[in-house]
Amino acid sequence: MATSSPCVVISDDEQGYDLDLFCIPKHYAADLERVYIPHGLILDRTERLAREIMKDMGGHHIVALCVLKGGYKFFADLLDYIKALNRNSDRSIPMTVDFIRLKSYCVSFQPCLPHQPIKYIYHVNPPKLCTSVQTILSYQNDQSTGEIKVIGGDDLSTLTGKNVLIVEDIIDTGKTMKTLLQLLQQYKPKMVKVASLLVKRTPRSVGYRPDFVGFEVPDKFVVGYALDYNEYFRDLNHICVISETGKEKYKA
Ligand code: HPA
Ligand code: MG
Repeated sequence: MATSSPCVVISDDEQGYDLDLFCIPKHYAADLERVYIPHGLILDRTERLAREIMKDMGGHHIVALCVLKGGYKFFADLLDYIKALNRNSDRSIPMTVDFIRLKSYCVSFQPCLPHQPIKYIYHVNPPKLCTSVQTILSYQNDQSTGEIKVIGGDDLSTLTGKNVLIVEDIIDTGKTMKTLLQLLQQYKPKMVKVASLLVKRTPRSVGYRPDFVGFEVPDKFVVGYALDYNEYFRDLNHICVISETGKEKYKA
């Protein structure tokens, strides 16, 4: 993995914190192992990332592009910090926002079973922007699935000539982001930078490293702060490691 974009590195032997030391929703008490990154630490790191982003991109109008659903908390907090910098500094830039969602769906008659490669088709909304079939990975349980489609957001041609900041929750293998970046290049933005709250240290990585990274984490499945396991745990403030009970209870 490239070593650009310095970040907080969480080592493989990091034990995290006992759940009882923090406030955890009662409905998830048995479903989590440990608190891995407390909410306050996420916010403190995000505040600093906002400063780095402004230093790097602050000369021009930014289009902040949130990758839903997992990116929404990081996106909201990051933009709040950027707004605070904008209103407290002599130098400020206008920002506009957009949202995209990468969604998996089956095009064959195969059932969507976990741990099984599934064929998905990829297209952009509106349909007139359909491109060739590409692979973007999505997740079911804690396994990546197959190809997905990009839905929502304005017509991506609004990004032409703009400085785009993609805001993502986690870079795992990096395949999804590489494919998204390739797609965006077709719309000729002036500049594209990527901010990801987390980057996973995994042997499955394709070596992609975002421009701005909050934390580098071990190869474990984490949830909370909008990161989900089959849609659950987005309603949890801290980033936590899921327990076997949790995996079983919320299995797709
Ligand atoms: N948690 C949630 N979503 C994910 C993860 C993870 O660890 N990796 C890729 N998508
Ligand atoms: Mg994501």
